[in-house]
Amino acid sequence: MMQARSDRMRRQFKTIVFIPTMGFLHEGHLSLIKEGHKYGDDMVVSIFVNPTQFGPGEDLESYPRNLERDLVLLQKEGVNAVFTPDAKEIYGKEFQTYVTLEKLPNYLCGASRPIHFRGVATIVAKLFNTVKPHVAVFGQKDYQQLIVVRQMVRDLNFGIEIIGAPTVREPDGLAMSSRNTYLTPKQRISALSLYKSLQKAKELTKSGIQDAATIIDAATELIQSYPETDIDYIAICDTETLVDIQTINGPVQMLLAVQVGKARLIDNMLLNP
Ligand code: PAJ
Repeated sequence: MMQARSDRMRRQFKTIVFIPTMGFLHEGHLSLIKEGHKYGDDMVVSIFVNPTQFGPGEDLESYPRNLERDLVLLQKEGVNAVFTPDAKEIYGKEFQTYVTLEKLPNYLCGASRPIHFRGVATIVAKLFNTVKPHVAVFGQKDYQQLIVVRQMVRDLNFGIEIIGAPTVREPDGLAMSSRNTYLTPKQRISALSLYKSLQKAKELTKSGIQDAATIIDAATELIQSYPETDIDYIAICDTETLVDIQTINGPVQMLLAVQVGKARLIDNMLLNP
């Protein structure tokens, strides 16, 4: 029982650090564990492909899994407990209580994946109540998710410190993602257009361009010049509310989602004029 274990750890004055994942671990996930070790002495990782955050027709069934390999990696990282519940245990019969946010899910990924953040907020709340961590680490790679979790923790008084850890990239710049395994060699080249367009945007901002639309147009053009790319959104937003920004006169977050073949890829970067 994970809850009983957490109670025991808390009685021993351990600081519980928690990292939720959907498994098929890569260096991005492992970086969260390395970061997490700085904040406490009991490290818990969960692996659960959460059905409620996948919409109809999305990749729930084909989502990559390799529990055996994941467990070896986690052991090497000095993880104290791995929580691998199954869907029946998490969503018992008659499950009917969800966590929904009023505003943040209306933008960006939430706009094209209407039930996604309801699923994320609900599972993260359930995992928090099970693991009872003092600190939880999330990747900035899923920027909107990080903001959603922070908001939920504030709104519902979870009293958990949320750490945002930087995005880990392949040597050429592609953000690591379990979904990168869907890419064919040709699509892998196109996938790099996300990072390239963010780099381009960074350069343009540094060179003094303040008009967000000009930057979004340049990014759009760059991505569309690669085959098999289908842009879902490219946005320049307030770093906390995720509301669109027209004129850049301070740090802003640029976020994008692009379908490349079977893979829906996301990435983001801080633009600092
Ligand atoms: P998953 O996609 O497995 O990601 C687990 C954690 O790893 C998230 O916090 C994510 O932001 C982080 N992460 C993924 N790729 C990263 C990278 N390249 N660099 C740094 N961090 C990275 O996100 C989820 O699972 C789920 O939505 C979950 C929160 C577990 C709820 O089901």
